[in-house]
Amino acid sequence: MPPAPVLVLGIETSCDETAASVVAWNGEGPGEIRSNIVRSQIADHAAFGGVVPEIAARAHVEALDPIIARAMAEAGVDFADLDAIAATAGPGLIGGLIVGLTTAKAIALASGKPLVAVNHLEGHALTARLTDGLAFPYLLLLVSGGHTQILLVRGVGEYERWGTTIDDALGEAFDKTAKLLGLPYPGGPAVERAAQTGDPLRFALPRPMIGRPGCDFSFSGLKTAIRHAAQAAAPLSDDDVADLCAAFEAAVTDVVGDRIGHALQQFRAAHPSIETPTLVVAGGVAANRALRQRLDVELTARGFRFLAPPMELCTDNGAMIAWAGAERLALGMTDGLDALARPRWPLDQVAAPRIGSGAKGAKA
Ligand code: KG4
Ligand code: ZN
Repeated sequence: MPPAPVLVLGIETSCDETAASVVAWNGEGPGEIRSNIVRSQIADHAAFGGVVPEIAARAHVEALDPIIARAMAEAGVDFADLDAIAATAGPGLIGGLIVGLTTAKAIALASGKPLVAVNHLEGHALTARLTDGLAFPYLLLLVSGGHTQILLVRGVGEYERWGTTIDDALGEAFDKTAKLLGLPYPGGPAVERAAQTGDPLRFALPRPMIGRPGCDFSFSGLKTAIRHAAQAAAPLSDDDVADLCAAFEAAVTDVVGDRIGHALQQFRAAHPSIETPTLVVAGGVAANRALRQRLDVELTARGFRFLAPPMELCTDNGAMIAWAGAERLALGMTDGLDALARPRWPLDQVAAPRIGSGAKGAKA
């Protein structure tokens, strides 16, 4: 008989999703998601146009226990059946992190099972191994409301950050653009919808970072340019908003295309023997169709494979945390009950901020 797979409970509370999942893994190839429960707090924060940390922490406190109970029930397991409890320990909003990590510690203590304190970014980085059993090394483009990074994923715990934003995250740029134009939160889907009927050429917007060496991003200048264009065209009709959204989407698509192009070249130079290397996308902005199409074009032109996990695994979820926990457990990388929640926790420990330590650290 083959050995029984390991079972890991994963808990995610670093931002505005309360999530728990049970994942099974037999030690090779992809994993199996036995349950994956996510409660989004979007409605709790919509009136404020962004995530309010205190509201998020309280909502996690209320939602987490029943969500864990549901994840366990759907998977048909008891705490005694688990091999480890994994929880996001950072980076993220400290209140939410403490709620999830403390709950995981309590379950670990009561059940006598090991704890794995997972880096949220590692959860995103390893998801393609949960879904597709993807072999190391590969490239990851993570584009969400809080993060914009290009990472080389070399192994569990082995990451090189090749690019990051020096100011706003890409999802944040979508959200701020939407707010400026009177569109609802979250801004990404609203901007994408409006852009569909817009003329991308009517407003000329800058393409920050294009032509510069390396893979870093910058979006705050674009936001300022949108504000100036909107002020000059005010009062805005629906057509004006559509044209501004189309111009914004075209600009960010060009920027991401250029930055990814550099990363692909860099990967080719570093790993010439990998015939068809893979780029994985993750994060809420990966839902954007114009961006996906552009990535597809860039990757195909350079002989790369494009791997986009199902959308519910691209955005924040507990399965990616359970999976990272399972991979770490298999390597004996468990944590003590004194593990700390860390609001900032770069995946690449040696990547010191290249431009100050402020905005770059927070969004990195
Ligand atoms: O990964 P995610 O669900 O949550 C975190 O940031 O943790 O990403 C949310 C972000 C928001 O900024 C949202 O506006 C953006 O992803 N987003 C999109 C789209 N759907 C969501 N941005 C552009 N186009 C979309 N279709
Ligand atoms: Zn995330």
